[in-house]
Amino acid sequence: MIVADERKLRQILVNLLSNAVKFTPPGGKICIRCASADDGGLLLSVTDSGQGMTHAEMDVALERFGRVEKSGTRGIEGFGLGLPLTRALVELHGGTLELSSEPGSGTKATVAMRSLEIGLPNPTH
Ligand SMILES: Nc1ncnc2c1ncn2[C@@H]1O[C@H](COP(=O)(O)OP(=O)(O)OP(=O)(O)O)[C@@H](O)[C@H]1O
Ligand SMILES: [Mg+2]
Repeated sequence: MIVADERKLRQILVNLLSNAVKFTPPGGKICIRCASADDGGLLLSVTDSGQGMTHAEMDVALERFGRVEKSGTRGIEGFGLGLPLTRALVELHGGTLELSSEPGSGTKATVAMRSLEIGLPNPTH
């Protein structure tokens, strides 16, 4: 169980999914996964089989207004704000956003959210 702003959590997922759709050519594959982390938190990942990015390109992608120019992406619209905004929203929830990518073999974006900590009364008191 996690505590999150429902609208913002939806925006996080929509941003990651819209990137996967935009930067994956027709016939590609996009996968959303949800799993529990070892620490009890929640892992949400969006994986695509699109054009991917190098390490340097991922750094650019996470900057405000950072867009990676590639031959296949000219004409694809965007401000370059989705990823930095997504990371800020995830971090405001106490979570983390990680990207892993290989040029030509796709991208995986993983959001790790912390679990809800419930203070249960101690039965010995
Ligand atoms: N799944 C992905 N595969 C390949 N490149 C990506 C992917 N996601 C993001 N990028 C690269 O990172 C850049 C920044 O992504 P970001 O979501 O911040 O901006 P955008 O999608 O271009 O515009 P906006 O989200 O503001 O509409 C993109 O322009 C693209 O070059
Ligand atoms: Mg985007």
